[in-house]
Amino acid sequence: MRSDIPTTISRLDYQPYPYLLPNVELEFDLDAAATKVSARLHFQRKPDAAADLPLVLDGSELELVSVAIDGQALRADQYELSGETLRLFPRSAAFVVEITSLCKPAENSSLMGLYVSGASLFTQCEAEGFRRITWFPDRPDVMSRYRVTLRADKSRYPLLLSNGNLLQSRDLDDGRHEAVWEDPHPKPCYLFALVAGGFACREQTIRTRSGREALLQVYSDPESRDKTEWALESLARAVRWDEQRFGLELDLDRFMVVAARDFNMGAMENKGLNIFNSAYVLADAESATDASFRAIEAVIGHEYFHNWTGNRVTCRDWFQLSLKEGLTVFRDQEFSADMLAADLPEAEARSARAVKRIDDVTTLRIAQFPEDAGPMAHPIRPESYQEIGNFYTATVYEKGAEVIRMQHTLLGEAGFRAGLEEYFRRHDGSAVTCDDFVAAMESVYARQHPGKNFEVFRRWYSQAGTPRVQVKMDYDQALGRCTITLSQHCEPAGIEKLQVPPAAKPPLHIPFALGLLGREGQALSLQHEGQARDTVLLDLTAASQSWSFDGIPERPVPSLLRNFSAPVIVEYPYSDAELTLLAGHDTDPFARWEAGQELAMRQLLALVAAIQAGQPPRVDPGFVQVWHALLDDKTLSPAYQARALTLPAEKILLERTSPMDPQAVAHARAELRGVLGAELGSSWLRIYQECADEPQEYHPDALQAGRRALQNLALSYLMAGAHPQAPKLALDQYYEAANMTDRMGGLSALVNFSDTPAATQALGHFYEQWQQDPLVVDRWFTLQATAPTTSVEAVRALMLHPAFTLRNPNRARSLIFQFCMNNLQGAHTPEGYQFWAEQVVALDRINPEIAARLARAFDNWARYVPANRDAIRQALETIQSHSPLSRNVSEIITKALK
Ligand code: ARG
Ligand code: ZN
Repeated sequence: MRSDIPTTISRLDYQPYPYLLPNVELEFDLDAAATKVSARLHFQRKPDAAADLPLVLDGSELELVSVAIDGQALRADQYELSGETLRLFPRSAAFVVEITSLCKPAENSSLMGLYVSGASLFTQCEAEGFRRITWFPDRPDVMSRYRVTLRADKSRYPLLLSNGNLLQSRDLDDGRHEAVWEDPHPKPCYLFALVAGGFACREQTIRTRSGREALLQVYSDPESRDKTEWALESLARAVRWDEQRFGLELDLDRFMVVAARDFNMGAMENKGLNIFNSAYVLADAESATDASFRAIEAVIGHEYFHNWTGNRVTCRDWFQLSLKEGLTVFRDQEFSADMLAADLPEAEARSARAVKRIDDVTTLRIAQFPEDAGPMAHPIRPESYQEIGNFYTATVYEKGAEVIRMQHTLLGEAGFRAGLEEYFRRHDGSAVTCDDFVAAMESVYARQHPGKNFEVFRRWYSQAGTPRVQVKMDYDQALGRCTITLSQHCEPAGIEKLQVPPAAKPPLHIPFALGLLGREGQALSLQHEGQARDTVLLDLTAASQSWSFDGIPERPVPSLLRNFSAPVIVEYPYSDAELTLLAGHDTDPFARWEAGQELAMRQLLALVAAIQAGQPPRVDPGFVQVWHALLDDKTLSPAYQARALTLPAEKILLERTSPMDPQAVAHARAELRGVLGAELGSSWLRIYQECADEPQEYHPDALQAGRRALQNLALSYLMAGAHPQAPKLALDQYYEAANMTDRMGGLSALVNFSDTPAATQALGHFYEQWQQDPLVVDRWFTLQATAPTTSVEAVRALMLHPAFTLRNPNRARSLIFQFCMNNLQGAHTPEGYQFWAEQVVALDRINPEIAARLARAFDNWARYVPANRDAIRQALETIQSHSPLSRNVSEIITKALK
């Protein structure tokens, strides 16, 4: 696991595995201290492979007990064991390898492989965790049928689960019991799973499209059984949705979801036995917020959708990770959007979908744009890595989803579905590449557009960095002609920055959605490709291209990159008046939101400049008027209105400052929020009261959740503007809330905007009330970690709280990550950076994958103002001076310091 010599693995070095492994038999004698694993591996040399090739197996943190080939035990001089590889020298073309080994789940704090959480045993194998269970070709292109026998003490581990179907179970005479599972679908080992422990189960049967019955089950700690209803319902909706939208049917008799308290990521799509971070399973109105309900639905959907996009067709190698992740994120985004819009009338459905798009684009800008501009920048299909665990990134996932979405935009819904069908026709049951996916989509595109192909589009898979598209508009009054010119360029990204001369970055294929508005804000109809439309899709495939539109009566205002049709940055010299027009009238709800955000961004950047120059920050009354108009617009849905009235996130603002100045950014945003709160106080109060007015039985649907979001936003502005009624409203809302969304809204308003005894008292009350619910205790830590007044000392004090531990990833994230990554004021100080370095080193001893995520908190340090830059560099050097560092952390730190 720990190594000093980093090895870099390159995409182009891929070699097929020389053996097939059609059948795998595993026997587990499960025990937390030491689990014995016996593997019988049925190998066949591939016809085209050389006969004298050794058989290479991966293994990590294992104790080898015995190894045999075709029943003949091998002596130590008949195999080679070094580092993480075991080499065997089989003599025939078909043979059975039998290996017995021991692993130690209770000592495994990395949460990869077989580990203990609570009183139960869980596995996590993606990407390379299976090698911590047994010696094996731990790579996704080796696919096998598994038969798994689990044996364990029956009272400690009453339930024994693995992939596929339960063939038999029986009691053994020593207090143990045994279960035999068989998974009929060939799979790579990263999709293997087992679970052993005591659980409660909530289940339902569902009849699939073709009439088969399938059992859906959600397992949790017995105490949490009443919190699994939403997860089970979400699973049933996901099954239905994939049938309806993509014609993809569940291929299993039984689909299980198990919640684990200790989990590195969100969840894992093991065939038929998904294992989830409990944060993405457990919810009820009292303990979970609207956002958690939505996140559960999204992650349940995501893992379920992997059953086709990931499991039936998997990745040839880990460079192809976006093949399954980008595609599956796109699918879960669409699922969530369809669920939000379900049963709403047309106009409201459109608004609900736009809200989801706004949230997804905001995530992309907060997490992926900075990554693409930093030392870890990589294409969605990386070219090389040292540790694959470091490449479960916003680029592979979220930008990957945008690249799929662009294909959907270019092909249209029916074309995209046809392309997906072609992909499954060609590749079902195999391990393939991103290029195979694009080729299937391209086959449909070429049919739709004779003479065109995806040659230029494919570059999205090999190019890192966020492209910029510059827009020029010319208007000829005499001809009534408007000409739009789009030019693209992409700066060197990541390691490209070190290259001299810089590598050429050829143009990308960018679908660019455009509308034109008249001076009154009315939509103008555009003639394009023989049709009249309000929105046209321009196919930008060269460095620069122009399009002309006739019959335009006056100089229009362009509405650019509607619905965010490509993951790019648009540059156009709008006047404030034009942005104001778009913010009030654009018929594309995404572009309308974007215009308001851009106005706010200008205002914030001006405030940052004033703060840096030591001048009094002044807010433009024209801008306040824009917010006022949005506040009074009765046509907007509450959810949309809440997004429109939210200021751009600190991190998005930070990316727009150069050099980056975190303290000035935090100060500027707080200032603007205060001014908007104070000057529009009566409107905020009216909105607050309107939203608070409708008591109803709790449901996390788009309308109710939108109203709560708007109410809580109004409350935060009232607090920020020091409205005299605000503290009482917040206190009453906190103490009288009927659901966690309102309760957290009240509490965070108190804690974020006032450092009063009432706030402290409410925090204490909250802990008292919820201390038995770990997911709610996480919220309690997060709220304090992100409060602007929280200092490093306060975080250190919270770390001494009996409920704190670094060993549980959710808890570590709730306090340490939240402080370092989401508290600009507290973390961006010399003490903050040193604290971060300490925690990275401490976490690395426990869980390298989690430590490496924290290690990325200040990736973009070189772009900060000098004082911060130097302090972060020192902190990075502090981390680097520790030895040994895991391969995970070492890769991050080395790249950051390059
Ligand atoms: N495939 C999982 C997902 O759908 C993520 C698993 C990543 N595991 C890891 N140890 N990095 O998102
Ligand atoms: Zn995934």
